[in-house]
Amino acid sequence: MSCTILAIESSCDETSAAVISDGKILNNIVATQSVHEKYGGVVPELASRAHQQHLIPVVAEALRTSGVSKKDLTAVAFTRGPGLMGALLVGGSFAKAFAYALNIPLIEVNHMEAHVLAHFIEKPYPEFPFICLTVSGGHTQLVLVKNHLNMEVLGETSDDAVGEAFDKIAKILGLPYPGGPHLDRLAGKGNPKAYSFPLSDMKGLAFSFSGIKTAVLYFLKENIKQEPDFIATHLEDICASVQFTLVKMLMQKLVKASREHQILEVAIAGGVSANSGLRNTLKEAALENDWQIYLPKLEYCTDNAAMVAMAAHYKYRAGIFCDLDISPLAKMKI
Ligand code: KG4
Ligand code: ZN
Repeated sequence: MSCTILAIESSCDETSAAVISDGKILNNIVATQSVHEKYGGVVPELASRAHQQHLIPVVAEALRTSGVSKKDLTAVAFTRGPGLMGALLVGGSFAKAFAYALNIPLIEVNHMEAHVLAHFIEKPYPEFPFICLTVSGGHTQLVLVKNHLNMEVLGETSDDAVGEAFDKIAKILGLPYPGGPHLDRLAGKGNPKAYSFPLSDMKGLAFSFSGIKTAVLYFLKENIKQEPDFIATHLEDICASVQFTLVKMLMQKLVKASREHQILEVAIAGGVSANSGLRNTLKEAALENDWQIYLPKLEYCTDNAAMVAMAAHYKYRAGIFCDLDISPLAKMKI
């Protein structure tokens, strides 16, 4: 039985729509919200309003470029959570109305599961079971992926997400929002061993990223006392050293998870998986640990509807649909 699904993502600050037909992604339209830049972070109410403005043009573009007409759709999917409540409501309400009007089933998708399933958009696919380090602006999780529909969180952050740490430290350094990619670019030109910052001492497979932000803040204050232009003159080395520490914290736990579970299939996902330091370190670790690694294409690292469509495809095949009275969930567990 053929299936063609329209998927919608609106959990944070990207409005996105994608069409998937029999497991093949036909497109991935993303409208990024620039309105937040001047505030140095996502403003939830502005995000909801921007989703309202962008959603219909983005869906129209997704349908037009896929060559699929509304009557060919066999289901509509949307991100139910986790995310910003107002933002989720915009995508969710639209998806419900669309499913109701077309009289086709509705599929709810967990955003964090979708990040993991982005690995099935293009070959090579990871083999089950695999471990996925999902790193984004809102989450840092080690996930044991047993199959497309069965995942278990092995460990996660107890405070800030790693993307949040990148963004907050970048903000302290005076970089534009979101700071992660800017910090990454500058880090490439600096010495990662120039300064050292403390690693977290979290037990087991849990992460903590709030300490490094404070450590960087005090480190800068001390140095600025001696040298007022310290940030400007040492920016590349500071970025490289911060990135080195953040990546090390992620890698320590990833290696631990792989050893404890004796799994050599290792993937990364989410916005921070675009980080060049993380990607390069993962490649080195693959040689040392005999891992088979999987890195998503950059367009499927940050938020996008193609990953939501992929997750919806597996639910459709398993006959998992939801009712039209379903509500979004700001906090939603895997
Ligand atoms: O997955 P995503 O698009 O949205 C959330 O679900 O949060 O992730 C966004 C996060 C932001 O914190 C952004 O700064 C970070 O991913 N990010 C990066 C890079 N590209 C995006 N962080 C470090 N280096 C990058 N190259
Ligand atoms: Zn995300």
